[in-house]
Amino acid sequence: FSDRAPAAALLPWYDRHARALPWRTGPEALAAGERPDPYRVWLSEIMLQQTTVAAVKDYFRRFTDRWPTVTALAGAEDAAVMAEWAGLGYYARARNLLKCARAVAADHGGVFPDTEDGLRALPGIGPYTAAAVAAIAFDRPAAVMDGNVERVLARVFAVQTPLPAAKPELRALAERLTPATRPGCYAQAVMDLGATVCTPKSPACGICPLMGMCRARALGIAAELPRKAPK
Ligand code: ADE
Repeated sequence: FSDRAPAAALLPWYDRHARALPWRTGPEALAAGERPDPYRVWLSEIMLQQTTVAAVKDYFRRFTDRWPTVTALAGAEDAAVMAEWAGLGYYARARNLLKCARAVAADHGGVFPDTEDGLRALPGIGPYTAAAVAAIAFDRPAAVMDGNVERVLARVFAVQTPLPAAKPELRALAERLTPATRPGCYAQAVMDLGATVCTPKSPACGICPLMGMCRARALGIAAELPRKAPK
């Protein structure tokens, strides 16, 4: 199949099945040309690292009610942010969050850079977050890699190399498949597919929009991939 086929199958699926999440801009608003707020996208992506969507939702609402803009967050007391973060875990994320908010406020006039490289230069923003914010907030064709995306790609292409050695191969596939149109929706579609259909155990191949192009499914080995190097 062509490099365009996965996005062509995933985008209509996403339009019907996207999870409604408090940091997402709905399909009607997107169709009307509205863009997601980069501050909300960035905050959600930091919170979602090592934490489930279900656990993040209420924290996200409390943060954005209390600090509706990156400039507001930049002006918060450290202790207030740490207290609001309590329970989410991985507290370095909260300290980096404040560092980043203050850099955006002080050095960028409260406006997030709109490219992957510009985002990557901010404190506390690594390759994952830079790609996710560039794609979701600014519709840049950045390849967003996380565990869900790795699993989906390892299965569609029946990548037998174990993780972590397979990472460069999976990244190259992700870059090839990222579409020029709606890359932000595409990135979120792959993540939703990995979270809800192409799950680690017992994937729901029968309802998968990529069923027809999935090599692992054809080989009957979807649930075995991605392989992991023995520890
Ligand atoms: N996990 C991390 N970021 C996500 C997003 N934007 N959509 C769905 N799942 C995610």
